[in-house]
Amino acid sequence: MTSTTASARNLLTDNPELYEARFPDPDRLAGRWAEDCLRRHGAGVRVLDMGCGTGRDAAHLHRAGRRVTGADLSETMLAHARAHHPGPRYLRADLHGFDLGQGVFDAVVCLDSTLLYCHTNDQLDGFLSSCRRALAPGGLLVAEMRNGAHFLGRTHLLDTPAANEFAWRGTVHRSTTTLTVDRTAQLLRRTRVWTADDGSEPVEQRSAWRLLFPQELRHLLAAHGLEVLELHDGPGPRTEPPWHEGLLPGRAADADRLHLVARVTAPAS
Ligand SMILES: C[S@@+](CC[C@H](N)C(=O)[O-])C[C@H]1O[C@@H](n2cnc3c(N)ncnc32)[C@H](O)[C@@H]1O
Repeated sequence: MTSTTASARNLLTDNPELYEARFPDPDRLAGRWAEDCLRRHGAGVRVLDMGCGTGRDAAHLHRAGRRVTGADLSETMLAHARAHHPGPRYLRADLHGFDLGQGVFDAVVCLDSTLLYCHTNDQLDGFLSSCRRALAPGGLLVAEMRNGAHFLGRTHLLDTPAANEFAWRGTVHRSTTTLTVDRTAQLLRRTRVWTADDGSEPVEQRSAWRLLFPQELRHLLAAHGLEVLELHDGPGPRTEPPWHEGLLPGRAADADRLHLVARVTAPAS
């Protein structure tokens, strides 16, 4: 029998060590890419990592000399981050609307599709107006996420189960993932069934990302007083081939990942 968990629960974000095992980043590529964006655009040292997850990117930015706050909705993630990736200050906040003070950060980073947990227009507005309040004049928003435009016309990516497996602490975990498009809500819905060779019951989990399109994102950012400096599909930390130091941003926005750097031009009043 497959047990279905409530949509608020997530096997990976409830198990930070499993999350890092499933999505390893031993070379801290995501953190290095974010630091490169901050450096190229001359950001100050105060950084908020919104949706910091296990804290590995926040800790990388801390080691690079930034004064970092990591924020997440998951207490489990925050506890893991405090224990395993010390340095940053970690606190609980909701990206749909947060108030950590006005003009107190030089940059907000939001990595690995966390921004796409803003499903509705109100949640996107809440996130961007919170960023605008949090950022000092000239502050940056650096984000990295799946690209909604990539799914336009590429129907082979949808409705077909894709299998993956990885070993963690002697147990083989297998997942079967099916993506579907909810056109009405403009969401990419994911159903993932987990099995493990330790005899545990299969678990079915459902989650969703906002299908956010590059031109829509430009419009939203402009409406919130943010000017786009970079918006492209790579190279980035999760592209193939991946980004490395010295590579400059591209111009297209067609492939699976979208990379954003935007600057506050009109701070919140
Ligand atoms: C895909 S993980 C990315 C984690 C981290 N940024 C990384 O790149 O490894 C998404 C993270 O967003 C967090 N999250 C989901 N919804 C959130 C919300 N409404 N507010 C804050 N964090 C949220 C999850 O708990 C999870 O840690």
